[in-house]
Amino acid sequence: MPFYRRFLAGMPEYLARYYWWAYLWRAGIWFFDHQPIINAILFGQYQRLMAETLRRYHPQPGGRTLQLTCVYGSLTPALLARTNAGLHIADVAPQQLDLARRKTAQSLDKPLYPACMNAESLGYASDSFDTVVLFFLLHEMPPSARENTLAEMLRIIHPGGSILITEYCELPERHCLYRFMPFRWLLARLEPFLPGFWQENLQEKLQHAAAIHGKYIRQYGKQASLFSGFYRVIEYRVFI
Ligand SMILES: C[S@@+](CC[C@H](N)C(=O)[O-])C[C@H]1O[C@@H](n2cnc3c(N)ncnc32)[C@H](O)[C@@H]1O
Repeated sequence: MPFYRRFLAGMPEYLARYYWWAYLWRAGIWFFDHQPIINAILFGQYQRLMAETLRRYHPQPGGRTLQLTCVYGSLTPALLARTNAGLHIADVAPQQLDLARRKTAQSLDKPLYPACMNAESLGYASDSFDTVVLFFLLHEMPPSARENTLAEMLRIIHPGGSILITEYCELPERHCLYRFMPFRWLLARLEPFLPGFWQENLQEKLQHAAAIHGKYIRQYGKQASLFSGFYRVIEYRVFI
């Protein structure tokens, strides 16, 4: 039996197969949730990525926010601190939700609402969130899972709401890291869906997902392009 199958129970196949060591294995979870490791993985850009994401985060008083999937580092406590109505967080891995709970245990006055769900089929009502935050999720999904997740996100967000996405930019052909073939090879081994994500037009995909629910999206403000166009932080608003 391939080793990854030990992590399969209840998990999407791609998550167990390609990311068991990062998100499902206890030792991996312990290892990766350290600031120097997170920062090293993001080439020293973590604080800037966080700052640009939080700079665009303006929850309405009483507005509902969903952080779609857990992340390592301090994004969840930082969002919770800025969200009066409490923060919803959904992830398919219970061990990741436990980590999010532990990290926010001190925030007694602001509730965290963790939910164990597959992002491809969310158990939230349509039009029930004002803001959805996606932090480095999409590039870790195969195309069909990405498409389903975007469609679900556009279903649960209400017109007038906003979507905050922090991700890799489109194909960074001119970036020195991308041009260094051994690095490109290594990154594609660790992140097998990133090469496909690099080729996609995110705005078109979002527009398509919005149209399924009779909505459309518009970019709001300027995209932050970080690390010479390797990463981006971008906000979209949703309309009918
Ligand atoms: C947000 S992504 C990447 C996070 C990024 N590498 C970081 O930590 O900053 C990782 C999370 O997505 C979750 N995940 C992946 N596919 C999912 C799916 N289909 N539904 C729900 N959660 C998913 C994993 O369990 C994991 O907790």
